[in-house]
Amino acid sequence: MMPTMEEGDIPGHEPMGEVVEVGAGIKKLKLGDRVVVPFTIACGCCRFCRMGLTSLCDVSNPNAELAKKAMGQSPSALFGYSHMLGGIPGGQAQYLRVPYGDVGPIKIPDELSDEQVLFLSDVFPTGYQAAENAQIQAGDTVAVWGCGPVGLFAIKSAWMFGASRVIAIDGVPERLEKARTWGKAEIIDNTKEHVQQRLMDMTGGQGPDSCIDAVGTEAHGSGTLDAVIDRAKVAVKLGTDRPHVLREVIMCCRKGGTISVPGVYLGFLDKIPFGALMNKGLTVKTGQTHMHRYLHPLLEKIHAGEIDPSFVITHVVSLEEAPKMYKTFRDKEDGCIKVVLKPHAA
Ligand SMILES: NC(=O)c1ccc[n+]([C@@H]2O[C@H](COP(=O)([O-])OP(=O)(O)OC[C@H]3O[C@@H](n4cnc5c(N)ncnc54)[C@H](O)[C@@H]3O)[C@@H](O)[C@H]2O)c1
Ligand SMILES: [Zn+2]
Repeated sequence: MMPTMEEGDIPGHEPMGEVVEVGAGIKKLKLGDRVVVPFTIACGCCRFCRMGLTSLCDVSNPNAELAKKAMGQSPSALFGYSHMLGGIPGGQAQYLRVPYGDVGPIKIPDELSDEQVLFLSDVFPTGYQAAENAQIQAGDTVAVWGCGPVGLFAIKSAWMFGASRVIAIDGVPERLEKARTWGKAEIIDNTKEHVQQRLMDMTGGQGPDSCIDAVGTEAHGSGTLDAVIDRAKVAVKLGTDRPHVLREVIMCCRKGGTISVPGVYLGFLDKIPFGALMNKGLTVKTGQTHMHRYLHPLLEKIHAGEIDPSFVITHVVSLEEAPKMYKTFRDKEDGCIKVVLKPHAA
């Protein structure tokens, strides 16, 4: 669904690896260092980087003019993503060139395994920022739509920010099970239950204090009319997105509550109940993750044993097997939640 991706692009923006070559200006990294590379590319110097808003870096996107046409201003470049956001070759490859090499990569201590730290590259900080953006107060009820890797890390992080209840919503049994067992969340199966009704029942008719949309534009709607229309419009290119979850989140959130949207949306969204959003006085926080500010604090949490992100891995395969695994992942076959590709495995 992502516009401005082209045949031959190298995807992948959750990379780690060993430094095998450095540019002349690099001071902090040396050959042999084991590093995790964050997916947002930032210069470290511009106004936005200095404010800590590194996913909004003003200079890293070489195709900024294209992004400005679509969005007014350009966010940062991202690895292995669309040409609008840089067309920078990604990490599903034997080698990766890392622009601003002294700004992004974080060195990993020897005692931690690759699997423990790999998701510092994206989904752990993304789930964490989603929970931070949810403005959770001690004792709050937090609902998280989507129990993919981002949703699962948002669930785990919501507890870290002081939630007293976390409710997870998805329609895939093994993902709901991970949310229940690893995430200690109460669960709602959106393919079997009316989500809004159930949430109202669970919260005394008020709705959750914070709602996190960790689904984004590829939402499934379990046959609801709005979702059927979205699907038809996107198929014939009359629509850009399938924002069923965003609509539901706005309708479910308690008055005066906060909506956090880590889920990615692409263009111009149809039938968003903005009247409900405005009249209920909701706050919305969103964005690509400002990766650089989370790398060190979250590495410390892993090091201290507070969290082991490797729980999310269901498949480890060689790079040659990637096309097959993309299909397995898309079709949610074989319990697939998160795949690690090993470029140098035979
Ligand atoms: N903001 C960022 O920086 C950032 C970074 C990484 C990923 N993302 C985005 O976060 C989102 C989630 O990523 P992921 O890797 O976890 O993806 P994923 O595809 O593995 O998970 C999405 C989950 O949403 C569920 N879902 C679909 N329709 C639903 C509905 N109606 N109600 C409840 N759940 C529903 C799916 O069953 C699936 O489990 C994507 O949009 C991704 O692009 C954003
Ligand atoms: Zn910058």
